[in-house]
Formats: sequence, C-alpha cells, structure tokens
Amino acid sequence: MTTAHPTGALSDEALRAHVASTLQRSRDRTTGLTAGDEGDLTAQHSPLMSPLVWDLAHIGNQEELWLVRDVGGREPVRQDIDELYDAFKHSRASRPSLPLLTPAEARGYVGTVRAKVLDVLDRTTFGGHPLREGGFAFGMVAQHEQQHAETMLATHQLRLGAPVLSAPPPPAAAAALPPGEAVVPAGTFTMGTATEPWALDNERTPHPVHLPAFAIDTTPVTNGQYQQFLADGGYDRPELWSARGWEHRVQAGLTAPQFWERGADGSWWRRRFGVHEPVPAQEPVVHVCFFEAQAYASWAGKRLPTEAEWEKAARFDPATGRTRRYPWGDAAPTAEHANLGQRHLQPAPVGAYPAGASPLGVQQLIGDVWEWCSSGFDPYPGFAVFPYAEYSQVFFGGDYRILRGGSFGTDEVVARSTFRNWDHPIRRQIFAGFRCARDLTADELG
Ligand code: AVJ
Ligand code: FE
Repeated sequence: MTTAHPTGALSDEALRAHVASTLQRSRDRTTGLTAGDEGDLTAQHSPLMSPLVWDLAHIGNQEELWLVRDVGGREPVRQDIDELYDAFKHSRASRPSLPLLTPAEARGYVGTVRAKVLDVLDRTTFGGHPLREGGFAFGMVAQHEQQHAETMLATHQLRLGAPVLSAPPPPAAAAALPPGEAVVPAGTFTMGTATEPWALDNERTPHPVHLPAFAIDTTPVTNGQYQQFLADGGYDRPELWSARGWEHRVQAGLTAPQFWERGADGSWWRRRFGVHEPVPAQEPVVHVCFFEAQAYASWAGKRLPTEAEWEKAARFDPATGRTRRYPWGDAAPTAEHANLGQRHLQPAPVGAYPAGASPLGVQQLIGDVWEWCSSGFDPYPGFAVFPYAEYSQVFFGGDYRILRGGSFGTDEVVARSTFRNWDHPIRRQIFAGFRCARDLTADELG
C-alpha cells in the first residue's frame, strides 16, 4: 500500500551522501542554537528545560553510543560521562547542578564524536543488521539531534532578553482560503508503516483501521478564532472544559495561550523569541495545552481528532484507496509544501501552503504547529521495541496525549506523516496547536 522511502532505492554511495548531508544539517542547526556565551548555555532558562549545554553533550553522547560504539564497534570516546547525559538519571530541573562539560568541552566532544562517525559511515555497509539496514541507526541519531534541536528552540522561546535567533518571515496566506471543513469518507485505511526505513518503533507496524465518516477542519485553529473563544468567556466557563482540564485551568491560572499579554488598549500581544508583537489573527494558535485545545473544540461544537482520524486525513487518497507518505503525495517535503526546519521562526498564516494540501483539501497538516489529538500514547498492533525500550515503550499508557504533524521547528527527517509525538496534557512550551474534527450529523450522513 505504501511506497518505499527514496532511500530504499538508493545505492550505498547515494545513501552515504544522504546520511552525511542529513547529519550535517542537524549539526548546523545545533551549532546555531548553542552559539551563545557561557552564561546562556549553562543557565536554566526554565525548570521545564535542560541547560542548552546539557542538550548539546547529550546529543553527542547518544551519537557516540549508537554510531561510534554500537554500529562502529569502536572504543568509547568518553564512557565516564554516560551517566551524566542519561535522560533517565537526572530530571531536567536538576541538570544545571550536575558537573556538566563546559560549553567548550561539549563543543569539542560533539566534534570528536562526529569525526569518528563520518569515518564509520565511510566504511559501513547498509545491510546485514537491523541497525544498519537502510542506514537506520544514522537516521535515528539524526532524528534524535533534530528532536533536541526543537527542544532547544523551545528553550530559546522561554529565555528572557534580547532576540538571538533570526529567520525570514513565512509566506503570506493564499488569496482564497479552503472551505472550513473536509469530509473524510467512511472506510478502512492503513495506519502506520513498515516501509519508511527511518520510522521509529512506535510507528510500526502497518495495520488496517476502520473509521466512520467524519469532518475535519481544513486548517489549524487560528489566533483570530481562538480570540473569539477568549472573548466569549471561554476561560470562565467550566462546562466547556473537562473536569481535569478545568482544575488545571484554575490551579495554573491560565487566562490565554502562553506568551500572550494584553496591550494597553486591550488588544492581544505576544512575546516570540524575544520580540513583542501583536498576535497575528491568521496564524495557527500555538503554545496551548491539550486542555485548552479541548475546551476550544467544545466551545466550537466540535472535538479534537483521534490520532487515527488525523493520520487518515493526512495520508488517505480516496481516489486510489492508498495510504500516501505525505498529504501531497510521496515526494519529500520542499519549502512549497510545508513550514518546517526552523526556516521561519513562527507558524505561517492559514492557507499559506496550498501545494501541501491532501487529496481531500486538508492543509498544513505537516509543519507550522504540532496538533493535539484526543488519543493517548499506546503501541500499535505488532509493536516490537527497536532498538531501545526507553524511546517509546516506557511511555506507553502514561499520562500523555498524542501530537501529530510537526511544527515550524521540526526538521523534515522527523516530520513524517507517521511520526508520533507525545507530551503531558498540561504542556504549553512546545510548539503545539490543534485543529478540530466532528462526527457527521444524521442529515449529513444522509
Ligand atoms: C518524542 C519528543 C517526546 O524529547 O522527550 C529525545 C524525543 N527521546 N531523546 C523527547 C527524545 C529521547 C522525545 N519526544
Ligand atoms: Fe534524548
């Protein structure tokens, strides 16, 4: 049903070049995000986040474990620091007080590891072992670095002080917006993948899912729409919130998305990477938690999509019955399709990526903002740990909600239509928004 990833068809030489450029893109981004001075890198910008210098050395340590020691079979570079950079050994809040590598040492360490990895890459074959098949371990390590790069980007959003990052603004909205909703027809589609060579264990294995017909918004919910919910007393009406959501709303004192502030004239402003600016009405809302997304949906007479609904809207082609790699087809994302990779430092206005639409006309599923789904994080049928239980398995069944599609801060090596992200339902520092779905009415069902 699904088409093989382009790497499946590549010669060893071409795959080597693809791996090398993917690793280089990750490292260029990491370098930019960790270019600050000693104080900036060792500070705890938020108790929710690690100091940037921890992320940096942790990126190098994971790369050393999987590619230098495991795939490469080489001697350890710094076995003595494994414990310091094991994410399960120390909470994020406690990491600043650890005897961490200094910024200069961490930069040296990741550079030493990378040089060895490029040598391993030169000599490796891409078969004979599941870690080498299709370059899997290299792809996993590049994704790991990019996931931490997105986390570091969220740390930059939390940090106070003058702006340190820059990027051009995203494209403008298209002249014509799509109709508000698309109807996804009833039927079975294939969810998950076995053919994406760099898909992580939780995305496997492909399995049929039957869904009744449903409607889904063609775009993420915008700041303008969210302001109507605010103006209509959305944060003061417990009946719109789940019991747990309302309890959190009150206890945490939520009154608006994170980073929003009221201007002197009562209009909404926001702080975005150190810049104070009016909240743009046409942009997808970002920095809302799951409970806020749920309350908005209920105010709108809708609900959040399940994870399966989101994936069907993103991948199902009604003309052929086939499950595609991306909403727009099987080709890798370009700048025309989606707002990814920190190319811009904000979501793009709705309608900005008509070329990224699904066959049913659903837009901006990939990129812009992660989209909260109503589902928890559970394994698919046939799940098998690969290659380590601490990536997915230890989180299954926990207090998490699924997020799909990636944000403006997600690299394309991560932003597959099958990629599954998860976080606690109260989290807002991630680049998360949402779109709504609903059941069809009896009239609509005919
Ligand atoms: C999949 C984004 C929830 O950042 O906690 C990074 C990814 N796993 N290092 C996270 C991850 C190990 C993970 N998320
Ligand atoms: Fe990690």
